[in-house]
Amino acid sequence: MTELMEFINDKGLLLSKDTITLLESNSEWKKILNQLIEEGHFIINIDLIEQKIQRTKLSGVVKEVEIKKTFFKAQAKDRPPNFRVMSEYDVSGQSNSKGTVGDFLKLFRNKFKLLSNMLRQRHNLTPVDLSYLKAVKKSDPVDVIGMVNKKWRTKNNHLGIEIEDLETKCIVLIMEKEKELLLKAEHILEDNVIAIKGVKFGEDFIIAKEIFWPDIPISAPRTITDEVYSGGTSDFHIGSNCFLEDATKKWIDYLNGKNLTAKQLDIVGKLQYLFVVGDNVSGVGVYPGQIDELTIVDIYKQYEAFEDIMLQIPEYIQVFICPGQHDAVRRAEPQPAISKEFMPRLDKLKNFHFISSPSWVETEGLKNLVYHGPSIHDLISSVSFLDMSKPQEGMVELLKQRDLMPRYGGRNPYVPEEKDYMAIKEVPDLVWIGDMHHNGYITYRGTTILNGGCWESQTDFQKKIGHVPTPGQFPIINLKTRKITEIYLMRDNLQKDVEAEVVGEENGQK
Ligand SMILES: [Fe+2]
Repeated sequence: MTELMEFINDKGLLLSKDTITLLESNSEWKKILNQLIEEGHFIINIDLIEQKIQRTKLSGVVKEVEIKKTFFKAQAKDRPPNFRVMSEYDVSGQSNSKGTVGDFLKLFRNKFKLLSNMLRQRHNLTPVDLSYLKAVKKSDPVDVIGMVNKKWRTKNNHLGIEIEDLETKCIVLIMEKEKELLLKAEHILEDNVIAIKGVKFGEDFIIAKEIFWPDIPISAPRTITDEVYSGGTSDFHIGSNCFLEDATKKWIDYLNGKNLTAKQLDIVGKLQYLFVVGDNVSGVGVYPGQIDELTIVDIYKQYEAFEDIMLQIPEYIQVFICPGQHDAVRRAEPQPAISKEFMPRLDKLKNFHFISSPSWVETEGLKNLVYHGPSIHDLISSVSFLDMSKPQEGMVELLKQRDLMPRYGGRNPYVPEEKDYMAIKEVPDLVWIGDMHHNGYITYRGTTILNGGCWESQTDFQKKIGHVPTPGQFPIINLKTRKITEIYLMRDNLQKDVEAEVVGEENGQK
């Protein structure tokens, strides 16, 4: 009797002749049979043996699968979070505006003082008050700072700009022949605070040679020493009939490390901060006829469904939620945080933070500006050089202007708070935006801007205006390298690295 037959008899196994022949040709027969016995088999057919042989051959893969199931150990779970909601820039509970003319005047004066001080810090500017213009000789160089009142084309195709400081006004002319300067001047909006380098031409009249915005300084992106990731997403629009439930479930699976490779697990385990940037629910009565496009018509039920999703996020991820125009807060900006009465279950959790829009959060010493983005929307609609598929470029404009309320009187309403929450008082390392339902990334002078798309498929309104959204694409950024990875939840977790376009370093203005 062969050793194999002795073993079979000893263990009391039942095998067909074919199975015995197959085992005889395999030097690992004892190991295979022992494993099958351990798994509770005693009637052993050829299929079982073949499966076992196959799995032994692919032992590397099998091991990896086991690692996924058994040993998913997120770095973020053991790593203490390091963050601070910068409450000094959060309007929640601080709104005291009555919306009087006096409140608006005060807001504009404050904005002028703040942004003109930023401009005064430029080494290449020696600005004088507009009232001092009278004392400057005709044709002498002069620098001034003012808030833009209006902009127009003259009969001779020059560009006229009226600017104003706290005392008086003057006219700035950009000559038709100054093609490059005219291109730059397209970016000037009413209510912008700008500096002009030029020559005096008349009593209250300057010919411009250069234009400056407050801008952010040129600097390299600030990074941290640990591999830690932050992610951003927005525009769930829970309650909308276009809400993409399946993709959202896949997103939750991703965050929980389900069905991921070891490499993917390593990355998602380092995700420690998540920004959820508004339009969390679709709201009720936000626009005429909206009721026909809702699957949940009760605002409380919409938030309940939103909570059901958020509650599945691992507890070690710090989640910051701000409102958008569809949320249950005032539509005018700055928007306070969504009241906890709408999300009582999340409110009880330590890792959920309700913040205003705009707001600022420091994570690992890096400053995050979090803003849903209606001003960007307004801006894109009012100029020809921006479009809705690149919201990040609109945000670059606002960074240059250092103002999230660049133009008052557009479609977007603002509340004149005593403190100017819309001015960009600090230089953010990262900016998280939403609203446009379109992913987009850019690094401008060391600041990385991310738009995390949406979870709503193309709406009838978007079809009408020809806007194609990018739902189900979740970006995360490595704070050590600033490398961005996009997770495609509409396409089986396909994951790819994306480059944020780098701009703004070409002209060293500062
Ligand atoms: Fe939205």
